[in-house]
Amino acid sequence: MIPDAVDLRTELLAISAELGRGTLSSRLASATPRRAAPDATSLVEPLRDVLLSQPVASWPRLAISFNADQVDSKLWLIECLPRGLDLSRHRVVILGAWFGLLALMLHRLAPRPPAEIVCVDIDAGVCARATQVLSVLPEPPRVLAADMLDLDYPALGAGRPTLFVNTSCEHLHDFAGWRNRIPAGARLVLQSNDHAGCSEHVNWVPDLEAFEAQARLPEVVFRGTLPLEHFRRFMLIGRT
Ligand SMILES: C[S@@+](CC[C@H](N)C(=O)[O-])C[C@H]1O[C@@H](n2cnc3c(N)ncnc32)[C@H](O)[C@@H]1O
Repeated sequence: MIPDAVDLRTELLAISAELGRGTLSSRLASATPRRAAPDATSLVEPLRDVLLSQPVASWPRLAISFNADQVDSKLWLIECLPRGLDLSRHRVVILGAWFGLLALMLHRLAPRPPAEIVCVDIDAGVCARATQVLSVLPEPPRVLAADMLDLDYPALGAGRPTLFVNTSCEHLHDFAGWRNRIPAGARLVLQSNDHAGCSEHVNWVPDLEAFEAQARLPEVVFRGTLPLEHFRRFMLIGRT
């Protein structure tokens, strides 16, 4: 496990539980004394304050976005990134970024944080909330309200090595159309799931093999399945 990941996971799950119960407070959940040096959990107090300032009606959805299934999926992604991948040289473009959880976790837990993060989501309201959540980072990522099916990927990847991350593949009604837009040779991290019980999951897949067939990656450096409480998460890391 990545150093600091256990502490950050504990704090994020406490936030999720409190948001879900409607009892979020500004205090840290852990009784563990804070270390003098900055660590992964140093963003938790500012994060609690930002979330407390959001309308209470948005808390149930925020609670889901910070729950164990989501946090563990992102931890898994960070742990499985290729050892030789130096994110400090990369722009990371997160597609379907929702409220910015992966950007927060990457920034705090990756051995070397990305040089630049861009978060894309089609929902302008989600983007507004993500911008506030991500303001807890010293160099907040750019948040872009856009449809990933319409983006100019060569332009998004210009000027710096770029890693495209799509952890919302199960939400794409035209996955093949999206996949065709990604330029050949691009580095890609994909996650999907077998959670058929959610109406938003218009592109869930039954297993990893179905996901691989859909993704058509000529080069795969990681393929795996993570059993979670409510579904299985599938992940592919490679190049187009
Ligand atoms: C429920 S969330 C994220 C679930 C996902 N497993 C995760 O945490 O990465 C899915 C997000 O994808 C966004 N989304 C869906 N279709 C999209 C599209 N075509 N372009 C950009 N964002 C999209 C939604 O607005 C939503 O915020």
